Amino acid sequence: ADNRRESLMIVSGFAAKFFHESLLDTDEGQAIGLSYFKERGFSTETIKKFELGYSPDQWEAFSSKALKEGYKEEFLLDSGLSVKRDNGTLYDRYRGRVMFPIHNFTGRVIAFGGRTLKTDKNVPKYVNSPESEIYHKSNVLYGLYFAKKAIRDEDNCYLVEGYADVISVHQADIENVVASSGTSLTVEQIRLIGRLTKNVTILYDGDAAGIKAALRGLDLILEEGLNVKVVLFPDGHDPDSYVRLVGTAGFKKHIDDHKKDFILFKTDLLLKEAGNDPIKKSEVIRDIVESIAKIPDSIKASVFIKECSSLLQIDERALLSELNKMRQAKA
Ligand code: GTP
Ligand code: MN
Ligand code: MN
Ligand code: MN
Ligand code: MN
Repeated sequence: ADNRRESLMIVSGFAAKFFHESLLDTDEGQAIGLSYFKERGFSTETIKKFELGYSPDQWEAFSSKALKEGYKEEFLLDSGLSVKRDNGTLYDRYRGRVMFPIHNFTGRVIAFGGRTLKTDKNVPKYVNSPESEIYHKSNVLYGLYFAKKAIRDEDNCYLVEGYADVISVHQADIENVVASSGTSLTVEQIRLIGRLTKNVTILYDGDAAGIKAALRGLDLILEEGLNVKVVLFPDGHDPDSYVRLVGTAGFKKHIDDHKKDFILFKTDLLLKEAGNDPIKKSEVIRDIVESIAKIPDSIKASVFIKECSSLLQIDERALLSELNKMRQAKA
């Protein structure tokens, strides 16, 4: 089994090199892929560091090269790089896409995200590797290999949604950044971060989906005892577009000015949604207390109760007794 894992990593590394070279050293790659990345503001240094690539717009460019070099069909298929036709021949999963290799904690390539350059709504924007023996999407954070040192040094981890967000923010010299890559955050991902720092700052897209996603992962993070702050970007922006607009200093200032403790972020947001409806408001209160009940540190929890009692305009003792009820129900 370890041999199989090693073989899958070797073929993934070979693919990363193939895509990277076709980006930098072929006419098609330069004209289409490289100019796309340059337009997005990625420097050559950044492109090399993250091993970004381009998959030629042909059916078999990668598969036939790999077979010719002696890579076994079994590993081409299991890594998801190639797909089998009914007649038994192989074709490439990624064609005419810019390629983002996904590295594991020690820097080996284990999977890919490939972005289309078409604007056709029927084409999926990103195609990702399927699950395999070396790639379990739920235990991987994009960019972690490049971010781990900075996360320790800064004692904080920025969590963003997408590949491009990681790369742009990193290029702006803010290196403690990782992405959940479109999936909602999992306990395994949170534990990966938790080994490096207890402080997470969520920087999600300033659209409705981003805000929803920010709320979804959060109770999980609280249960793991991490401190969570949330920053939203102006509607229509994500960290990538925003850091390019305002630069490193402006980006940091936006974070400083807008970061909110998670519970207070959630309280504000739900209260706004509830308006003056008393029934909705009581649901909000229960929802918030439920989140607070997930914080393992009871002193921290009581501080939040105090802050929320003023936001919710509700007696602190009422919130506390609700909190105790929930804790007892859980025990
Ligand atoms: P750009 O348009 O390149 O800036 O991408 P983005 O990262 O801003 O994309 P978006 O905010 O739409 O999505 C965030 C992340 O969700 C992406 O980086 C992907 O990891 C994932 N994602 C987005 N679209 C798709 C899709 O069509 N399929 C899959 N599997 N994942 C997607
Ligand atoms: Mn496994
Ligand atoms: Mn989005
Ligand atoms: Mn984006
Ligand atoms: Mn985005």
